[in-house]
Amino acid sequence: MKVLVTGANGHLGANLVRELLAAGHAVRGSVRVLADPGRTEHLKALGPVELVQADLDHPATLRAAMEGMDAVLHTAALYLFYAPGQDAAIVRASPDYAPDLGKSLAVVVQVARFT
Ligand SMILES: NC(=O)c1ccc[n+]([C@@H]2O[C@H](COP(=O)([O-])OP(=O)(O)OC[C@H]3O[C@@H](n4cnc5c(N)ncnc54)[C@H](OP(=O)(O)O)[C@@H]3O)[C@@H](O)[C@H]2O)c1
Repeated sequence: MKVLVTGANGHLGANLVRELLAAGHAVRGSVRVLADPGRTEHLKALGPVELVQADLDHPATLRAAMEGMDAVLHTAALYLFYAPGQDAAIVRASPDYAPDLGKSLAVVVQVARFT
């Protein structure tokens, strides 16, 4: 199965990438900043993961990341304990808002499963 993991460089995302590769899936991981090696080296070390850039603040990038996938595991989220002045960014990338955005895009690009 071809699976997209959003937030692939995060704690949950990287663990999912490792487990999916081990199970033999073709894995695409989306990261917010592809140009920063510090955010992707640990992913490349896991195996043949295809890395793409996607930012929840730019839905077209998320849609492009989903193209051709059978399933999406959506872990990208702005997960902060204290972030004065970042309320709007946290809401846009929150577990409540972002899945609705992702589910809508998944329908458009015909991804069968979105979690
Ligand atoms: N960790 C756990 O044990 C656990 C357990 C259950 C549920 N969860 C939930 O799973 C989600 C992820 O948790 P985590 O621990 O993996 O957090 P994390 O390590 O902070 O990872 C969050 C990921 O989301 C990305 N991200 C943040 N804002 C983004 C945006 N606007 N567009 C695209 N990507 C964005 C981050 O990218 P950057 O690196 O570029 O910031 C990072 O890859 C959260 O909703 C959390 O509540 C976590």
